[in-house]
Amino acid sequence: MAIQIKSLEDLQKMRKAGIVVGRALLLMKEAARVGVTTLELDAIAAKHLAESGATSSFLGYHGYPNVLCASVNHEIVHGIPNERPLQEGDVLSLDFGAIVDGWHGDSAISFGIGVIDPADQKLMDTCDESMWRGIAAAKVGGHLTDISEAIQLYIESQGSYGILREYGGHGIGTEMHQDPHVLNFGKAGFGPELKVGLALAIEPMITRGSATTKVLSDDWTVVSIDKTNGAHFEQSFALLPDGKPFVLTSLDGGKERLGRLGVEISDLLK
Ligand code: MF3
Ligand code: CO
Repeated sequence: MAIQIKSLEDLQKMRKAGIVVGRALLLMKEAARVGVTTLELDAIAAKHLAESGATSSFLGYHGYPNVLCASVNHEIVHGIPNERPLQEGDVLSLDFGAIVDGWHGDSAISFGIGVIDPADQKLMDTCDESMWRGIAAAKVGGHLTDISEAIQLYIESQGSYGILREYGGHGIGTEMHQDPHVLNFGKAGFGPELKVGLALAIEPMITRGSATTKVLSDDWTVVSIDKTNGAHFEQSFALLPDGKPFVLTSLDGGKERLGRLGVEISDLLK
C-alpha cells in the first residue's frame, strides 16, 4: 500500500477524531479505580463515541469484540475488557480508536491503580517519554527510522527493558492501520522519507523483562512470556504544511511534551 499523504483539510478531520480519542481516554482514566471493571470503562468509551457522533476503529476490526483494548499487568496490548475488578497496584493500559467522517485517531495510555510499585511507574514513564522522543525525532526530510532509533535509545538509557519486536506503530488515515510500519527499535536514516502530510501512530510497548510475548487463547491478548508487567503508550501525529508536527490525539496538540524537548508544534490545527 502506498503511503497516504494528507491535506490540511484531511488533517482537520483527523484532529476531530483525535480529540474524541483523547477525551475518551481522559474520561476512562478518571473513572478507573479499585473495584471498577474494564468492561465499565469500555461502556464509558462507547457512550463517548455515540455522544460525539463518532464510531469505533476497533469494534469488528478482524472480529475484535469491543471499542476498547484494556491490558492489565503482564498483558501488554490487545486485552479484551472483562468483569475483573481493578485492584490496587495494577498497571492498566488502555488503547482506543475513533472514526469521525471516515478519518481515524488511535491512542493509548498506561497508568497505575492506587498505590503501585515505583518500578512499574518507571516502566510507564520510560515508555511514555520514549514515544515523545520518537515524535520529536520526526523531521521533514528525515527518515522513518529516525523515530525508531530515538525510541530505542531512550528506553535503553533508562534500564533493562524488553522492547516488543512483533508490534509497532503505523500510518493512520482513512484506515486505522496503514503503511508504513514503524519499528520501536533500529538505526536512524532508513525507511521512507518523512514528508509533509504524513500521519503516523507511534506506539512503543515495553516490559520489565523479556520482549518475548505470546497471544492468549482468546486470540487477542498479548502477554509477556516471563509474566513481567508491560506498558504501552500511543499518539497519532502528523507533519503539517509548515513543516512542524502536531499530535492529533493529544488534547494540547503535543505542545507541552514536545515543547519540553525543544520542538515547536504547528499552529495550523487547533
Ligand atoms: N490500537 C491498536 C493499534 O494501536 C489496535 C487495536 S486492535 C483492535 O494498532 F482490534 F482492537 F482494533
Ligand atoms: Co495503533
